[in-house]
Amino acid sequence: MYICLCYGVTEDEIRQCSAQGATVQDIQDTLKAGKCCGCCMDEVKSVHCHAQKTHCVSPLPQAA
Ligand code: FES
Repeated sequence: MYICLCYGVTEDEIRQCSAQGATVQDIQDTLKAGKCCGCCMDEVKSVHCHAQKTHCVSPLPQAA
């Protein structure tokens, strides 16, 4: 599923980066997710949070 439509970044790509220890900033720098309109950032952070199994404040986005 695409999370960042501006750069075509998928949920799997974000999960892979997060599982390797990347921060949200790292994900923005390497995948460019959130670097254009920014409207995907809540979902980027949510996927990152769940992939790292940290304390998450929002649920994963649901597929439409
Ligand atoms: S949808 Fe991710 S920056 Fe626009």
